[in-house]
Amino acid sequence: MSSSMLNDAKGSTTANKNNDGDNSLPPVGTPVSGAGENRDNGSETNIGPISSSQQNNTPLPTIDSITTGMGSTSSTTNNEPPLNNSERVIPVANINGYTLGATLGTGSFGRVRFATEKTTGEIYAVKILKKTAVVKLSQITHILDEKKILTRISHPFIVNLKKKFQDTKYLYLYLEYIIGGEFFSWLRREGRFSNDHTKFYAAQITSIFEYLHRLDIVYRDLKPENILIDRQGYLKLTDFGFAKEVKLKTYTLCGTPEYIAPEVLLNKGHGKGVDWWTLGILIFETLCGHPPFNDDDHVGIYQQIIQGRIVFPRVVERDAKSLIKHLLVQDLTRRYGCMVRGADDVKDHRWFNGLDWDALYHYQLPAPFIPPVENDSSTQNFDRYPDSTEEVQDPVYPGEDPFLDF
Ligand SMILES: Nc1ncnc2c1ncn2[C@@H]1O[C@H](COP(=O)(O)OP(=O)(O)O)[C@@H](O)[C@H]1O
Ligand SMILES: [Mg+2]
Repeated sequence: MSSSMLNDAKGSTTANKNNDGDNSLPPVGTPVSGAGENRDNGSETNIGPISSSQQNNTPLPTIDSITTGMGSTSSTTNNEPPLNNSERVIPVANINGYTLGATLGTGSFGRVRFATEKTTGEIYAVKILKKTAVVKLSQITHILDEKKILTRISHPFIVNLKKKFQDTKYLYLYLEYIIGGEFFSWLRREGRFSNDHTKFYAAQITSIFEYLHRLDIVYRDLKPENILIDRQGYLKLTDFGFAKEVKLKTYTLCGTPEYIAPEVLLNKGHGKGVDWWTLGILIFETLCGHPPFNDDDHVGIYQQIIQGRIVFPRVVERDAKSLIKHLLVQDLTRRYGCMVRGADDVKDHRWFNGLDWDALYHYQLPAPFIPPVENDSSTQNFDRYPDSTEEVQDPVYPGEDPFLDF
């Protein structure tokens, strides 16, 4: 198995975070128009390319159905049969109603930017994905799943999707803006966190996985870059680009090398168990400052994962060590989280003794660290990224668009 197979489209590694800029999005600080580039009439009633059916007087979608509805963006009304793909219309996103600010993060398909809605002053983090890049990297299903799952879920420690829309070139996910920055940055800055500090975060991830798994959703991409810290010092999990509804097993290779579970490497089919494995990796990395399976090249990391030998630095306390060992178990019938009692095996482990899970869920426990926040629109807690200067030139497909159901 080649390492590149695993280091797929999303593959930024923990040790070597991918900060490569994406250079094909509109520049910072400018009001940006979407596919309706040359037709910026300053209103929010832009409608996208006219299909043959529209020319035949099919009612156009109202902007409300595009911007506030989390449902379908199809151009049909209730009285009409759905149009087939080639006849359906991609509405133009009203991205020109927003002022885009600093880039908060970048990925393989685009970037996440700070955005302010001009009329309301409402703040968002907008994940802008280039359709061409998504298609090129064969990630269409993942992106559609990301939207579908984010629309379905609601949990205090998971980022909230507020709106979504698209134009012919981009997909836009409007997320609540999480002001404290990435867990990754704080962990690298501090080196490692104390036992209690780590426990506070690990408990929140446990609560998230318990919730998602009950809905048969596997997250599959836990790592410090995808965890944000909110104003109160609690976590918010973002990036559902690999999340999937899975009842039994799935076979897609995905994840970040240091966090990949052995069953994924061995291509035996995997399920909810991968999330519990990644929790073990995260607890270890948070306590020690480095992941347990670490090497300069990916193949070396994979060999260590399969061998499964964990060397614990002295700093790891006995109970934490015990839980990590119960999570980083190759045998799924013995891994904590995967057995009959599910998440309860993890929650009832002695490392969590005395933790009030209900108080945690309701933000009633004091957070060990509160990020500095100058004002509501401060982006001080995020790394600086170079501005992007160009815009994608071509729509993904001139005729059919694979994102009609986004
Ligand atoms: N809701 C948000 N608030 C603030 N920053 C965010 C938010 N969502 C994502 N980010 C930033 O953008 C980065 C990339 O977003 P992510 O969804 O992880 O994209 P990718 O799928 O490309 O990894 C994150 O690591 C984080 O720094
Ligand atoms: Mg990510």
